[in-house]
Amino acid sequence: ETSYVKNKVKDPSLASWGRKEIELAEAEMPGLMSLRAEYGPSKPLAGARIAGCLHMTIQTAVLIETLIELGAEVTWSSCNIFSTQDHAAAAIAAAGTSVYAWKGMNEEEFNWCIEQTLFFGEERKPLNMILDDGGDLTNMVFDKYPELVAGIKGLSEETTTGVHRLYERMKNGTLPIPAININDSVTKSKFDNKYGCRESLVDAIRRATDVMMAGKVAVVCGYGDVGKGSADSLRNAGVRVIVTEIDPICALQAAMEGFEVKKLGTAIKEADIVVTATGNCNIVREEHFRALKDKAIVCNIGHFDNEIDMAWLNNAYGSTKIEIKPQVDKYTIDGSDVIVLAEGRLVNLGCATGHPSFVMSNSFTNQTLAQLELWTNTDKYENKVYTLPKHLDEKVARLHLAKIGVELEVLDQDQADYIGVPVEGPFKAEYYRY
Ligand code: NAI
Repeated sequence: ETSYVKNKVKDPSLASWGRKEIELAEAEMPGLMSLRAEYGPSKPLAGARIAGCLHMTIQTAVLIETLIELGAEVTWSSCNIFSTQDHAAAAIAAAGTSVYAWKGMNEEEFNWCIEQTLFFGEERKPLNMILDDGGDLTNMVFDKYPELVAGIKGLSEETTTGVHRLYERMKNGTLPIPAININDSVTKSKFDNKYGCRESLVDAIRRATDVMMAGKVAVVCGYGDVGKGSADSLRNAGVRVIVTEIDPICALQAAMEGFEVKKLGTAIKEADIVVTATGNCNIVREEHFRALKDKAIVCNIGHFDNEIDMAWLNNAYGSTKIEIKPQVDKYTIDGSDVIVLAEGRLVNLGCATGHPSFVMSNSFTNQTLAQLELWTNTDKYENKVYTLPKHLDEKVARLHLAKIGVELEVLDQDQADYIGVPVEGPFKAEYYRY
C-alpha cells in the first residue's frame, strides 16, 4: 500500500480563480443549493465516507461541497484523464478535501488517483460509499479491493455506460452492494445527456478548431439521448447533419426530426465532422478514415475512447500524429489529413468544460438524493440496481423551475380524480416515456 498523500492537483495557486467560478456556478445550481438548505442543518450524511470518481469540474465542486455540507467526508478523482478543470481541483484541495485530479494525466496516474480515494485521512479509514461515473472506481473496488466491499453501503452511478456494467453484474450475480442508477432518472438522461450535449458539443469543436460550423456536413453516430443533443447542437450551428443508427426506433425518430439517416460507410465521404455518441465500440474504423475528406474532424462524445479506432490511427497505419495543441492532433491517412480531438476521449470534457451548471444541477441533485437514500435507508435495498422513485425525479425538476421563471399549474381534486393521479404527484405512470 502506498503512503498517504493528502491531495494532488496541477497548480494550487489556481484555487482563488476556482473559488470565484464555484460561487458563480452555485447560483446556477438551485437543486444542490436547496438540498443544502433542507439537509445542511441535520447532517444526514454524517459518518459517510464517499469516494467519488467523476469529472473534476466546477460543477462537480458544487456537488462535493453539497455532500460535505450534508455531513459526509469526501475524496475525489476524475473519471477521465482530460476532464479535470485544474482551477476547480485546486479550489477543492484548498478547502481541505482530498482530491487527486489534473488535466492531462496518463493512464497509470489515472489509476493511482482513483486508488488514493479509497482510504481517508492519516488513519486510512476505508470508503463506505461510492459515487461513480463510468464504473472505473466501482471496478477497482470490486476487482482489486474486494476486502473493502463488506464495509460499503451502496453506490450511485452517473452514466449510461457505467449503468450497463452494473446491470450486467446484477444479471451475472456479481453485484455485491446496492446500486442506484442515476442515468435513468428522467431528470438526468433526458436533460444532461440531451440538453447538456446540445450546449457542450459545438462548444468543444469550436474551442478545439475554430472551424466555421455553418454550412458543414456532420455525421452523428448514434441517436440516443447524447446523439439527439449532439445532432441538435450541430443543427443549431447551421450544420447539415446525417445520423447513423442500428435501432429502427431511433432511426425513425432522427428521420422525423428532419435528419438524413444513412450508413456510416455511405455518409463518411461527405463528412466534414464525425461525432460518435453510441456508447459502443469500433464505430469509426480504418475504412472510414481512408474515405474521409481532407481536414475532416473526428471526435467522440461517448464515455469511453473505444468508439474511434485510435489503435489503428496510432499504430497499425504507422505513426503520422502531429500535435496541433493539447487535445487536438492531426493524422495523415493516404495523403489527406484527419483532425482528431481529445485522442478520441469524450470531447466536450476534453476540449471544453463539459455541460453547463444548470443542467448538471439536475444530475447532481439526483446523485445527492441517491447517496442520502443509500446511506440512511440501507436496509430497504438489496444487491440490485435501482432507479430513484418518480416522486424524487419530480422533486429534482421542481427544484429547478423557479430559477428559470417556470409557473406550474396545480390540479384541482376533480382533475386529479379524472386522470387518476394525486394532486401533488407523481403525475405519470412508470411506463410513461417523456
Ligand atoms: P443511448 O443508449 O441512449 O444511445 C446510444 C445509441 O447508439 C442507441 O440509440 C444505439 O441504438 C446507438 N448505437 C449503438 N451501436 C451503434 C452503431 N454501431 N451505429 C450507430 N448507432 C449505434 O446512450 P446515451 O445516453 O446517448 O449515451 C451514449 C454514450 O455517451 C454513453 O457512453 C454515455 O455514457 C455517454 N455520455 C456522455 C456524456 C457527455 O457529456 N459526453 C453525457 C451522458 C452520457
